[in-house]
Amino acid sequence: MPFDFESTINRQNTWSTKWGKYSNPDVIPMWVADMDFETAPVIKEALLNRVQHGIFGYTKPTRELNQTVCQYLKRDFEWAIDEDWIVWLPSLVVGLSVVSRAFANTGEGVPTNVPIYPPFLSAPRLGERETITAPLTKSKNRWVMDFDALEGAITAQTRVMLFCSPHNPTGRVWDKEELKELISFCHKHNLVLVSDEIHSGLIMDADKKHIPSATINEAEDLTVTLLSASKTFNLPGLGCAFAIVKNPTLRKQMQKTMAGIVHHVGALGYTATFAALKDGRDWQIALVDYLRKNRDLVESSFHDYRFFNVNHTEATYLSWIDVRDMPIENPANYFEQHGVGLYDGADFGAPGFLRVNFACPRPVLKSAIDKITDAIEHADIEIR
Ligand SMILES: Cc1ncc(COP(=O)(O)O)c(C=O)c1O
Repeated sequence: MPFDFESTINRQNTWSTKWGKYSNPDVIPMWVADMDFETAPVIKEALLNRVQHGIFGYTKPTRELNQTVCQYLKRDFEWAIDEDWIVWLPSLVVGLSVVSRAFANTGEGVPTNVPIYPPFLSAPRLGERETITAPLTKSKNRWVMDFDALEGAITAQTRVMLFCSPHNPTGRVWDKEELKELISFCHKHNLVLVSDEIHSGLIMDADKKHIPSATINEAEDLTVTLLSASKTFNLPGLGCAFAIVKNPTLRKQMQKTMAGIVHHVGALGYTATFAALKDGRDWQIALVDYLRKNRDLVESSFHDYRFFNVNHTEATYLSWIDVRDMPIENPANYFEQHGVGLYDGADFGAPGFLRVNFACPRPVLKSAIDKITDAIEHADIEIR
C-alpha cells in the first residue's frame, strides 16, 4: 500500500510547538524534531478506535504490550529481552532526568559528548548535578568519540554517562568497534551507560545498522537503554517512552527516583506505541525511503557554498551544518529573517553550527532550500 508523504498538511492552530515558534507565518520551521507527515494509517486507526470508546480512565501497560516490545527488539535488532526489564516513561527526556538523579549524587558530574541534543546538557543541571562535556572530534570527515577527552573529563566520582545512539545532531550510526570501546571505557571506570536510542528506527545509510549498546559483550548489566516509538512514527505529542534495564539494582534505583513524581503514560500513548511496534513496519520502511531522498537533496544542494558545510547524515532526519566560517554574527537569526527556522548549534554546545530538520514533504523542503540558498547568496560576503 502506498503511503502519502508528499501532501502538505496545515499544522497551524494545532498547538504545535514547531509551527508556533515563529510569529512570521512565512518562516518554514525546521528546528524541533517532529515530522510534518501524518503518522502511519495503522496507528491513526488504532487511536480512532480507542477514542471512539470514549472512556479515558487510568491505564496500565498490558502483557501483550510488553510482549510486543520484546518482539520488536528481537525483530529489528536481534536483541532478546525479558518483559520485566521494561520501565514505562511518559517521555524520554523524563528518562534522562531520572537517570541523572538516580545514578549520580547531588553535585556530582554526568558526562556526555558534545554536540548533543540539548536535554542531555540540561537534565543533570536541573537535578543539581553537574554536566560534564567531552567534544566529539572529526576523523576522515566523520564525527567520532574522543576517549582521551572523555577520560580527562570524568573524575573518580563519576558514576553515569549519557550517550546518544544513533547520534543527534551528527547523525552518526556508531559501529561495533566504537561501541566496544565505549563499553570497555564504562567497565574500566565503573560507569552506568545510559544509551538514548530514540533514533534507532531512522537509519538513512542502507549499508549501516543500529546496534543496541546493551547487546555488546557484557554491556547489558551496566546499560539503561531509552527508547520510544515517538521519533520514527511521529508521536511525540502523545507522551510515551520506555527504558530497558536488565540490572535489577539499576531498575529499582530508577523506580525509586520516579515514585510519586513521574506520571504514568496515558491511554493514547500506549495505544499508539502498541500499534507502531506491532504493525508499523511497512510504513516505517516507506518513510525511511522518503527521508533518505530528502537527505540526499539537502546534501547535494550546497556544494557551491564553502561557508555552509553539510555533514553526512547516516541516521536521523537531521542535517548538521558547519557555518563557523560564515561572517555573520547570528546565523540562526539570519536564516530566520530569510524565511527558514533552523536550530542554533549553541543549544547543542556547538556555536557556529545549525541543525536542519528535513522531515517534511519534498515540495516544502525544496522551497526551504531555495530560501537558504537565497540567504547565502545575499549575505554580504564572498561566498564561492
Ligand atoms: C536524542 C533524543 N532524545 C530524546 C528526544 C525527545 O524524546 P521525548 O519527546 O520522548 O522526551 C529527542 C527528540 O528530538 C531526541 O532527539
